[in-house]
Amino acid sequence: MPLTATSHVVDLAIRSGTAALAFNVITLEHAQAIAAACERTGLPAILAVSHNAVRHHGDDPAAILDACAAVARRCRLPLSLHLDHVEDPELAVAAPDLGCTSVMFDASRLPHDENVRVTAEVTRRLHARGVWVEAELGEIGGKDGVHAATARTDPADAAAYVAATGVDALAVAVGSSHAMTTRTARLDQDLIARLRDAVDVPLVLHGSSGVPEEELRAAVRNGMRKINFGTHLNTAFTAAVREALAATDRVDPRRYLAAGRAAAAEAA
Ligand code: G3H
Ligand code: ZN
Repeated sequence: MPLTATSHVVDLAIRSGTAALAFNVITLEHAQAIAAACERTGLPAILAVSHNAVRHHGDDPAAILDACAAVARRCRLPLSLHLDHVEDPELAVAAPDLGCTSVMFDASRLPHDENVRVTAEVTRRLHARGVWVEAELGEIGGKDGVHAATARTDPADAAAYVAATGVDALAVAVGSSHAMTTRTARLDQDLIARLRDAVDVPLVLHGSSGVPEEELRAAVRNGMRKINFGTHLNTAFTAAVREALAATDRVDPRRYLAAGRAAAAEAA
């Protein structure tokens, strides 16, 4: 089916009291695995291509985004295309020309005032072209960065940030941390509920791979509306590739990439 807008995938989740699922794509096999998972579960999803993944593909965004778009169009369930953790305003504003209907603009490394100024400007330019924008505050609450398990987003700061920037969704720091390979993170469920009450846009959880399933379900009950997974798929993908490589001295990459893709589909 045609590429779906991320706002539509998120709206479907809001209307049903659930959360939209975003999965990070690094290679074509990830995109195919996520599409297969959608078809198996009957659920829509968001294909998220990070700025780092764009860098991996020689800084050529179209190389991976065009492949994702082709996979999405062949999928029988709605899939949207999202640019994730974009640090360069020029890449962010190029999103609609690259087929993306949403961007997570990540100015969290900038000083707070600068984050607000640049995010508001990028959001204004993207809204003019109908693109949905997610963003996040900086290192408020945690000196190791907003994605450190100890970082916390203050509800009043969150409300002020959303009002000042005009963003459509807010990534919040509530206890998860990026790139965890064990599901041991504990979320601050009370804070999620307070953020939901303070902020009038959907809340987004990053670093969801390290969060146990029951914590994720509780987070959704408390108002989390978009959940981002990356590492969870890569853990499955890489384990399957290792196993496939250990089983043979053949050199055809299709054998181990197919094993990785199947494992990532199952994980998704
Ligand atoms: O933006 C991407 C996500 O936050 C993924 O994080 O790899 O820890 O699941 P994760
Ligand atoms: Zn993230």
